[in-house]
Amino acid sequence: MKAITRRRFLSQSAAGLAAAAATGVLQSRSAGGAPSANDAVVLALVGSGGRGTALAEGFNQLPSVCFKHVCDVETSRGQAMAKKLSKAGYGETQYVADIRRALDDKDVNGLIVATPEHWHALATVWACQAGKDVYVEKNVALTIWEGRKMIEAARKYKRVVQAGFQNRSAPYAATARDYIKSGKLGKVVHVKVYNMLSGGPWKAAADGNAPQGLDWDRWLGPAKSVPYNSSRHRDWYSWYEYCGGAYSGDASHQLDLARMVLGDPGTPKAAYCAGGNFAYGSQRPTPESQIVTYEYADFTMTCDHCTFPPYMRKSNGEERYGKKFPFWPQNNERIEIYGTKQMMYLGRHGVGWQVLEGEGKVVAEEKGYHPDKWHQPDFVESIRTRKMPNADIEQAHQSSNLVHMANISYLVGNQRLMMDPATERFTNSDAANALLKPAYREGYRVPDQV
Ligand SMILES: NC(=O)c1ccc[n+]([C@@H]2O[C@H](COP(=O)([O-])OP(=O)(O)OC[C@H]3O[C@@H](n4cnc5c(N)ncnc54)[C@H](O)[C@@H]3O)[C@@H](O)[C@H]2O)c1
Repeated sequence: MKAITRRRFLSQSAAGLAAAAATGVLQSRSAGGAPSANDAVVLALVGSGGRGTALAEGFNQLPSVCFKHVCDVETSRGQAMAKKLSKAGYGETQYVADIRRALDDKDVNGLIVATPEHWHALATVWACQAGKDVYVEKNVALTIWEGRKMIEAARKYKRVVQAGFQNRSAPYAATARDYIKSGKLGKVVHVKVYNMLSGGPWKAAADGNAPQGLDWDRWLGPAKSVPYNSSRHRDWYSWYEYCGGAYSGDASHQLDLARMVLGDPGTPKAAYCAGGNFAYGSQRPTPESQIVTYEYADFTMTCDHCTFPPYMRKSNGEERYGKKFPFWPQNNERIEIYGTKQMMYLGRHGVGWQVLEGEGKVVAEEKGYHPDKWHQPDFVESIRTRKMPNADIEQAHQSSNLVHMANISYLVGNQRLMMDPATERFTNSDAANALLKPAYREGYRVPDQV
């Protein structure tokens, strides 16, 4: 099917429309080029699990945006998603088993990468090399080294690479940043980030046979080859081979939001993490508790993370969609910003912010709204206009690195690690530097030269 613009497409006869829909999706201009206002933005989804589904359904509702491919290593899941995304007037969305089939397609402008973390960097680098823009979920990379490679690929191939740190598109986050910048809080000297999730005891399942229709070898991709294990597959958040644990899964959002409202401070000079499986003593490879301190030049930031307390509360619907503020002391994903004059409570997921002085007096506040509604159009706009996306990979990498620094400190025995921001290497631990880059499998290597 030859390329077709939206205007031409819409002016076709009903018969023409039906024929176009039957043969393929509305096509974008050329690979690597920005689609004009009249061209469709053609996307491919990589990973159709929980988050991939939510993202794809959101993107698919945007005008002149369609999905030509769904790629998943679980055939039935990918096929079902492709069926769901087929959009009237844009033809059928096709299922592909291998991400490279979507990358070979000249019609595709952008990839939405919602796989586990061990695939993020490779998928992003391959996509940039193929001339595609990328929306990649957080935590953006599995290690510090490969996050840097993602930036190099984005810049070298002039690609938009937007991270799934959607809080960066929230208008209330921008006003919180402005408030802090105005100096009304006074000098910010301490920031406390909370990620206090509920949880329970954890035990790994025994190795077994991969379910039918799952390409386990490709699921593992860059990671070490191991027999199929349902805990690795379904609970990949708990394994360092595929993710930085729940600290990466959730705390990364608050750490990124904290950095954003503070004006994006660079790499902290040191980080220290203590923790362990204190609550349940379970076998989970990633710890149930992590208490982290980040040292910046003129302030400190801490993050209290755990996966046990049943009395802490996630923000509910009313709080996420602008109806009311949470009871902050029990909110499990809040940020507290302490200035010399005032303090700010800030929530993610659209929860908003409040500033307090003595006697509990609220002196300023703004309610928020869940930010996906701005973040997804922001990526599409960046594809069309080539503007920098709100959560560009450089800042996303800096935020992701806070997770990596904490995890590496924990893994090398709770060492206070000093980092040289210019080289993104630790200056006081060879053991820590050995954890900067994954040991890739042949065929799935992020190249040194992107
Ligand atoms: N921004 C947010 O608010 C948010 C929320 C939830 C999850 N996430 C992130 O989204 C990503 C996905 O998380 P999830 O909870 O949806 O995981 P999930 O396990 O539900 O889904 C992952 C999907 O990726 C597929 N997959 C794995 N390797 C693949 C490959 N090589 N090619 C194609 N498909 C592959 C799996 O089969 C699965 O369907 C993670 O990075 C997670 O941290 C972000």
